[in-house]
Amino acid sequence: MADKWTPDSWRSKPIVQVPDYPDKEAVADVESRLATYPPLVFAGEARKLKAQLADVAEGRGFLLQGGDCAESFAEHHADHIRDFFRAFLQMAVALTYGAQQPVVKVGRIAGQFAKPRSSNIEKKGDIELPSYRGDIINGIEFNEESRIPDPERQVKAYRQSAATLNLIRAFAQGGFANLDHVHQWMLGFVKDSPQAHRYQEMADRISDAVSFMRACGVDPDNTPQLRSTDFFTSHEALLLGYEEALTRIDSTTGECYATSGHMLWIGDRTRQLDHAHVEFFRGIKNPIGLKCGPSLDPEELIKLIDVLNPENEAGRLTLITRFGQDKVFEHLPAMVRAVEREGKKVVWSCDPMHGNTITANGYKTRPFERILREVEAFFAVHRAEGTHAGGVHVEMTGRNVTECTGGARALSAEQLGDRYHTHCDPRLNADQALELAFKIAENLRKESDTRLAVNT
Ligand code: PEP
Ligand code: CO
Repeated sequence: MADKWTPDSWRSKPIVQVPDYPDKEAVADVESRLATYPPLVFAGEARKLKAQLADVAEGRGFLLQGGDCAESFAEHHADHIRDFFRAFLQMAVALTYGAQQPVVKVGRIAGQFAKPRSSNIEKKGDIELPSYRGDIINGIEFNEESRIPDPERQVKAYRQSAATLNLIRAFAQGGFANLDHVHQWMLGFVKDSPQAHRYQEMADRISDAVSFMRACGVDPDNTPQLRSTDFFTSHEALLLGYEEALTRIDSTTGECYATSGHMLWIGDRTRQLDHAHVEFFRGIKNPIGLKCGPSLDPEELIKLIDVLNPENEAGRLTLITRFGQDKVFEHLPAMVRAVEREGKKVVWSCDPMHGNTITANGYKTRPFERILREVEAFFAVHRAEGTHAGGVHVEMTGRNVTECTGGARALSAEQLGDRYHTHCDPRLNADQALELAFKIAENLRKESDTRLAVNT
């Protein structure tokens, strides 16, 4: 592992979850073309995100990471991007208020295309086909032709990512993210929610804070932080040929950065110490994430941290834990203790989605109550261990889909078929996502009250 790292040194390691392209020459051709295309993000932005995450690791911020399970070519539409961003910003405002700390905003967007699968084969009736692996690899339609991995899809994914990122940058900086708008949207949500009374109090307190700031002369017209926001992109860097082609030397530091997104993460199925994904990640300088599921032993985690963050740099590594709501107490305390014992600086983030997937009425779904229970268990463990519950990682959309059951509108299993659009895992819809944010904000409030009590 201590061997010299190069952007292609992963190629000599074992690898799992990669497509078997029938035409290897076509793959090489696409990769060499991608290598000449402009980077999607700039290294300086990745460093800025790393600095913000360093604050989270030190207990001075909260990470909100969210977006699609799998972006798709078919759903590439300005309205979807706008609706996602609108829901995400409202969540961020609720969390900022709850945490009384800055919220670092990272989308699962503009590059979240490649999917690891639990089986290489999908079966319907008597027909068996290769599994769908995300639009960057093959097509979701259940026929032989569409399931053949096609490297040209990488170029399409790159171009879609560029267009998505362009619109998001415009929204983030061009006035859409103005706190006054976000606050008004949030009041609309609270008014329309069947459980409005539960959120009214916090919404009122946010309104009071906004009015107070305005009375003091601080408003979006004179304060750039209230009319624009930093927003970063992230995805699971599964398809390493694509990632390598977009890995560039930063001219200001001479270091290698993946430029397909600001933050990349390693999935729970591809985090083997001696495998290709860990090898690729150890050399790029971006902030990175590591998914930690129930099969990850705490001592193995320490080895992974040593390889992925040998300098113990705060902000470099975010541990995204995803156990399932009934397994958090079994696994998280041991992990937290091992990391604390070794003095490792990490951001602890909770993915309450991937351990809580069930099948109901023939659909893959996630009950809202389970998602909430995983988040609450995550906070309880960090409170007990004296560590900072630093973030959440969710699959969500700004649209009114019916993919996860429960929430304030008590979506039932029978309703799942109404608007079930996801290309992979079930996402929270806009109302469910904001409801979750309010619940997390309540937990953060407890943490910030404890912090204030200790400091006074
Ligand atoms: C995902 O984030 O979509 C995913 C596949 O997660 P995990 O690697 O944690 O299973
Ligand atoms: Co998913």
